[in-house]
Amino acid sequence: RVLIIDFGSQVTQLIARRVRESGVYCEIHPFNKVDAAFLKAYAPQAIIFSGGPASVTEGESPRAPEEAFKLGVPILAICYGQQTMHVQLGGVVEGGHAREFGRADVEIKKSSPLFEGCWSVGERYPVWMSHGDRVTELASGFEVIATSENAPFAIAVDEKRRFYSTMFHPEVVHTPDGAKLLRNFTHRIAGLKGDWTMAAFKDEAIARIRAQVGDGTVICGLSGGVDSSVAAVLIHEAIGDRLHCVFVDHGLMRKDEGRQVVSLFRDHYNIPLIHADESERFLGALAGVSDPEVKRKTIGKLFIDVFEEKANGIGGAAFLAQGTLYPDVIESVSAIGGPSVTIKSHHNVGGLPERMNMKLVEPLRDLFKDEVRALGRELGLPETFVGRHPFPGPGLAIRIPGEITKEKCDILREADAVYLDEIRKAGLYDKIWQAFAVLLPVKTVGVMGDGRTYEYVCALRAVTSSDGMTADFFPYSMDFLGRAATRIINEVRGVNRVVYDVTSKPPGTIEWE
Ligand code: XMP
Repeated sequence: RVLIIDFGSQVTQLIARRVRESGVYCEIHPFNKVDAAFLKAYAPQAIIFSGGPASVTEGESPRAPEEAFKLGVPILAICYGQQTMHVQLGGVVEGGHAREFGRADVEIKKSSPLFEGCWSVGERYPVWMSHGDRVTELASGFEVIATSENAPFAIAVDEKRRFYSTMFHPEVVHTPDGAKLLRNFTHRIAGLKGDWTMAAFKDEAIARIRAQVGDGTVICGLSGGVDSSVAAVLIHEAIGDRLHCVFVDHGLMRKDEGRQVVSLFRDHYNIPLIHADESERFLGALAGVSDPEVKRKTIGKLFIDVFEEKANGIGGAAFLAQGTLYPDVIESVSAIGGPSVTIKSHHNVGGLPERMNMKLVEPLRDLFKDEVRALGRELGLPETFVGRHPFPGPGLAIRIPGEITKEKCDILREADAVYLDEIRKAGLYDKIWQAFAVLLPVKTVGVMGDGRTYEYVCALRAVTSSDGMTADFFPYSMDFLGRAATRIINEVRGVNRVVYDVTSKPPGTIEWE
């Protein structure tokens, strides 16, 4: 397995994704947590240094543990990683050179296993640079094998020690051949086989769950989303009926979704499931509430109350399952030295483990979202479940600006179902990150047949994104929009006008509230 030492780059996670995509298991650890003892225990077969925002020319800037250089394993050092590697091994780095941000071309001077089967000597290839400082004197044993206009040491290597350093970022898509270079590093140079598969991960995960839980019982809150579903099915494979699933149905799901969750678990997997149908209680608590944050808090608190009631009803459990993913777990490092630990708390069950004195079982905490999907397929979850767009915990409540009523929820559910049906028919579902209808608290005048109508406006939203942090509106054809609008207005009672939201994020957000 590979160790990625994180110096705080924005794109460190992408290194891990590329490495795992090539079938090699890896983990990211912050530079200041990696010491000799850690290295001994982890026993990496190869190490990658990430980039980072600091400057090695500043006093307190991050360094790699010295022991890393003595393990005899190959090291690939990227950007800031390159600079600290050279400084630590006796080279020199200076600031104040022409800054190179964005696309650059590297010219290959000498062949290397790093770009075997990919780049040829004498040719130029596009890469992505992002840095101010640069190495001006190589550490001994290194030679330059590629240059760029502003980076005479674009790639410098010590083939004998198997130390590789690049000034550019191979992990980003703007370095088109970057994934191949990373693969060459892990496969050709480090000699790893690339046999890390989801089937193997599943077996390891099941063994880990059994070891952690022993003969205890686990309780799992289902939301209908991919993460909690995959976690539940995996844990069920590990411990069978000692897993109790609780589906807190707040009545703010999409059309048919509640029924699908119940049927998947009870009929398809035969997993015991408590279906807490509490829609009236949630709607009651939300009556008169129109502030989005109050909506979220009201739903979050009631969710915990209901979950706790149901858990107590079955006599409690020693463990609570959570679908925490790797991006929530990775500790980020701040620019200069000081660790800043950011761990996102799960919106559904925040506070529950302490309140109920339970230990956490988090079988997905090593996985990225797309890996969770692959694991779901491995576990036999239907594609309609595994490939689902993200859906927010508070559900339709944050897609009905203003006060929420049962009537409005029903109208929105119908409009949303018609909209998604059109998206699927047009073959667009998988090209879109998230698509949904929003019911506006505005009525407008229309004419249908011979009569005047006075009904709600429905807004359609669809975005592309890679992580939900930034997003672009989806460029539908006018044809598609016309078709979706006509169907919604004809088939959904209570809507007589449809608009399309063309706001990107930023400055907008994906949800309307
Ligand atoms: P925004 O609207 O912030 O959404 O651009 C980014 C992503 O997060 C989802 N989202 C939520 N998910 N609880 C959740 O579990 C929430 O309160 C919440 N608010 C937004 C949103 O659907 C999108 O995928």
